[in-house]
Amino acid sequence: MRIGSGRRSMALALAMVFLVSSLFFVSADVSADDSWDRMISSRVDADRAMDHLYMLSKKIGPRVSGMKSEKQAAKYIATQLKRHGYQIDEQSFSVPDQYIGYVHLNGKEKWQVGASPEGRITNKRPVSGSLIYVGEGLSQKDYGKGAAGKMVLIQYDADNRNEQLKRAVENNARGVLFYSTTGSRGNHGPAFSPRFDETVDIPVLGISWIHGQWLMERLEKGERVKIKVNTEHHSQLTSVNVIGSRPAKTRSSQTPVVMVTAHLDSVVGAPGANDNASGTALALELARVMKNDGTDVELRFAFFGSEERGLLGSRHYVDQLSDEEADRIIGVFNADMVATRYEHVTHLYAMTVDGEENPVSKAAVQAGERLGHPVAQGRFGSSDHVPFHQRGIPAALFIWMRVDSWDPLIYDIEKVYHTPQDTIEENISRERMQTALEVIGSAVFDLLRKPQPAQEPWRRAS
Ligand code: BES
Ligand code: ZN
Repeated sequence: MRIGSGRRSMALALAMVFLVSSLFFVSADVSADDSWDRMISSRVDADRAMDHLYMLSKKIGPRVSGMKSEKQAAKYIATQLKRHGYQIDEQSFSVPDQYIGYVHLNGKEKWQVGASPEGRITNKRPVSGSLIYVGEGLSQKDYGKGAAGKMVLIQYDADNRNEQLKRAVENNARGVLFYSTTGSRGNHGPAFSPRFDETVDIPVLGISWIHGQWLMERLEKGERVKIKVNTEHHSQLTSVNVIGSRPAKTRSSQTPVVMVTAHLDSVVGAPGANDNASGTALALELARVMKNDGTDVELRFAFFGSEERGLLGSRHYVDQLSDEEADRIIGVFNADMVATRYEHVTHLYAMTVDGEENPVSKAAVQAGERLGHPVAQGRFGSSDHVPFHQRGIPAALFIWMRVDSWDPLIYDIEKVYHTPQDTIEENISRERMQTALEVIGSAVFDLLRKPQPAQEPWRRAS
């Protein structure tokens, strides 16, 4: 009796196992990729990414190459990665000097701006005065009664900048604020460090277009605008990359590596909420979600410093890889500007340097199709995927954009990137962040599970 019932229950159990496993395989067969996607897409949370975004763009603020603020960002990132059990590697490297200025407005607001190396460096001895606006300040008429003891606001004209500065000095200005008009991609002018043929003995600053607007509005209302400025020269600077890795289940010198990257710095005077606290936050959220799902592929998150000064962090990283290490990297997902609120963008793009599809862009386009969030393939440089591409490593930049034509390139991008207006309030969409998290996360997971063989024709092409 007991034996019989034992056999029966054994048979039942076997039948159950068979049924359950065959069900599993059937369902896995029908919608394998969707169910894998859901492991990521149902877990990534834009609200968590927003917490990182807040910390980086608001609490820390501009994260300027080589400066303390950049190191604060690096520290925050390393702390997050450690908490999730990642192995941390911090790399430091030298970067060029910075000339930075500050404008204190009526003793209340403080703006970070650019300073000219040819102007006076005030350090701890700021200069103050009331502000006058002189337009382009090229003719003596612009100055009226002169500028003795005043701070002068000038609309910057790159071609005539030496004359502009000379006029201000002749009129005994106490300091000069140049405001820029447009940036290089039709964006509002960012803060900058203007350069001149000759040095002068007064502080010379380069402020963003919006700061110029705000000052002019006050002047137009007839307000007396009292400002205090100081300028600083920072030399012998170092910047930093933070790398967090999760080893593969089995490790060898040939273990493939998939990377998710983002630049952690921002330009002078810009909170860099979209450029690029958004990419940093996305990578940190993916690191949280993916910390436990070990596969046969190593997962590595890299946060690069000094991207804004010429891709210096990613260049440093790629340069120090041995050929053997470079060969292991099968894909690089570089997130830069992944949560814009700009209404005219149409797609999340997977941009490769040569415009050709590669395993990264392909995985993203396919993930987008499965998830119902179309991802477009395109061609763009200008970010940390470039040094990887140049080393023959498949890489793509992820960015929201509208592209009307590729040849000639006609595209639309938010006006506020690289400016003080790149803030959460003005420039971030929680929904676009969520979409980017789901699509990029699913594509990364796809490559982790189905690594492409190490040597494919697209490798070593360059
Ligand atoms: N995220 C930008 C690149 C970007 C901005 C691409 C707008 C497309 C539209 C990036 O942070 C950046 O500013 N890159 C620099 C690179 C340069 C210093 C080599 C740039 O393009 O000016
Ligand atoms: Zn940028």
